[in-house]
Parts: sequence; C-alpha cells; structure tokens
Amino acid sequence: MKLRKNALSLSENYIFSWCAEEGRQYAAAHPEAQLLSLAVGDVPGPLCRPVLDALQRALDEQAAASGFRGYGPAEGYPFLRRAIAEDYQRRGIAVQQQEVFITHGAKDALADLLRVLPDGLAAAIPMPCYPVYRDLCALLGAKVLPLAMQPDGGFPPPPDAPFDLCFLCSPCNPTGALLSRRRAEQWVQAARRQGALILFDAAYEAYVRQPGALRSIYETKGARDCAVEVGSLSKTAGFTGLRCGHLVIPQQLKTEGGPLAAVWDRLLQSFSNGVPYPVQRGAEAAYSAAGREACRTQIDQFLQNTALLASALPAGSVLQSGSSPYLWFRCGGDSRAFFRRLLERCQILCTPGIGFGDEGEGFCRFSGFCSEQQAQRAAVRLRQFDF
Ligand code: MLT
Repeated sequence: MKLRKNALSLSENYIFSWCAEEGRQYAAAHPEAQLLSLAVGDVPGPLCRPVLDALQRALDEQAAASGFRGYGPAEGYPFLRRAIAEDYQRRGIAVQQQEVFITHGAKDALADLLRVLPDGLAAAIPMPCYPVYRDLCALLGAKVLPLAMQPDGGFPPPPDAPFDLCFLCSPCNPTGALLSRRRAEQWVQAARRQGALILFDAAYEAYVRQPGALRSIYETKGARDCAVEVGSLSKTAGFTGLRCGHLVIPQQLKTEGGPLAAVWDRLLQSFSNGVPYPVQRGAEAAYSAAGREACRTQIDQFLQNTALLASALPAGSVLQSGSSPYLWFRCGGDSRAFFRRLLERCQILCTPGIGFGDEGEGFCRFSGFCSEQQAQRAAVRLRQFDF
C-alpha cells in the first residue's frame, strides 16, 4: 500500500508515549514502587462543579426529543463561540464570535489547519518546542528553521531567512518562557512583511501571572492580518479527556482564495460534524463567572506545585517564569540517561529534554499537573536525590 509522502518521516517515538511506556515497564518490574508521574502534562482532575453540572444538564436534554441534538454546526454552537469571543473582549481584545471556531483541542486543530497549507513551506520554530510542531512540519514536508531560545530563556527574534509559517507558544511548552511584547511585535512585523502565517499557541495563557505580560497574539498591532490563535481548555479547565478548544481566525487574514476564515469554514462543512454538544455546554460553563473562578483555583494549585518542585531542585538549574505549569531544568548531559536515573532512584517520571528537539538536550521537564500531595512527595524525594 502506498502512503502519503512524509507519513513515515516522523521520529520513531512520540516522547510522551515513550515516557509512559518506560513508566509501565518499570512498574511491571517493580510492583512495589510508588511511581510519581511528572512527565506528560495531563491534569489529575476532577472537573469543576460548574462544568460537571452543565455536562449533566446537556446529557439530560438528550433524553427528550425536544432537547435532543443531532449533527451540530461544524464550526461550533453559537453559544460557545459567543462565550469565547466575550472572554477575549473582557481582556480588551476585539475578537468577534464569527472568528471563533470550536475544535477538538489544540493538537487536533493544528493538524487539521495545516492540511490547507501547501507542502514544502519554510517553518520557523523557536526551539526547544512542543514536539507536535516538528511532527506536523515533517508531515507537510516543511523545512524547519530551528531558532534557539536566548541564553536567558527568552524567545529568539524572527529569522533573517524567509519563512512562510512560524509556531509561537507562550507561555512556552516546555520552557515556560513568556513572549515579550517587543518580541511579539518583531514577529508580527516580519510575518506581515513576508506574507507568512503565525500560529500562536495560547494553550497555557491562563497560567500567565506576570502583570502586563502578553496572553494573546492579538494584543500585538497588526497580528489580525497574519496570525491564527489556538486555544484549549485542556490545561485551563481539565478537558484533556473531554477535548475542546478553539481557533481564532480573524476576518482580515487573507489567502490567495479569500479570507482564511471562509476557506476554513467551507472545509469544515465537508470534513467535520463538530465537537459533541454536551462537551460544548461544559466548555461554555468553564467561561462563566463561576467556571472561571473554579478553574483559576485549580490553575493556582498547579502553579504552586511547580514552584514547590522548583524549590527542590539545585539552585541555578531551573528556568522558571512563575507563569507556567512546567519546570524546565538543567540536568546536565544525556537527558534520557537522567530520566532513567531519576526513575530508578526516586521513582519519578520526568520528560527528557531531547524529546523537545536537539536544543532540549541537557535539560528535562517536570509537569506541575498533579495533586498537592504528589508534588509534596516528589519534592521530598528530589531533595534527597544526588543531581
Ligand atoms: C505535554 O506537553 O505534556 C502535552 O500537552 C501532552 C501531549 O500533547 O501529548
């Protein structure tokens, strides 16, 4: 059977599956071990009460013909598109309801969106990066222009070389770095000059705690001409299992075939039946006043976990912005070897930095997505570990 060119060009393992498999093998060989997983950024749950109540109500509606929902609008129900647009407007960002498209989460949205782009583009990516960007580029046959993060962890400037596409994720997964307003302006100006597309991954925007820091690319002048923003409720409201996120495609973002939003909308009509209705009702509740408050409490806990883990690591080894659920730290040398040593001595799973690109070698990542108790237990073990 023939395959699409580049379908076999992905690296052999997806790093988070590799970590999980190593953990499984270790647990099978050491049934007594109390493993603590700080590898994949998956939330420990539970969902907050406003989301649960909304999910339950939406399910109950399905019990009567009057409330039953069949195929939904591919672009998302108006109630959720409106709630998300209002969330932006509350932050002073002029996003309109019709510019919001509901998705099955950030990863799916990026993979779907990139289907409309031609093969062989030049893609600028600040490194280390979320591995999905690299894999998508491999699939598209895109030429990656890797741009190393600055020595202090800050974002690199746009490349001198021409680029068609760039991925910016702030707060950055894995490093936690924040894109400064000045740097965002440079990227937007470069993208507009070159007719390039910025994919701004805002999956972690709710973690930004630094006053005045940028949370949306649309806080940057000119970004509506060149940037699509990817939002997700996975890390904001515990939707890693439910799956729901959004894309913002501004009306004035033009392609050779008209506004990208119109092209995208047309594709959705053929290829999607949207996100399940109950999930969209749950998502709507996450944007309500009660939902936002409950989510913020959970997020604060993950940030505290991350700070606690940081306090257990050797001084100077940690890059920490205080605005990320991830902790990026220097492990010295081979990050997979460090992963194994940590697993054997502490029964803790981390993510080896090499999984985020060659530029991540010498570092590892901890996820703060765990319970307070797990973070405390991990911190005790880490304090006794010989780094
Ligand atoms: C992570 O960085 O841990 C990711 O969000 C997990 C994933 O996408 O598989």
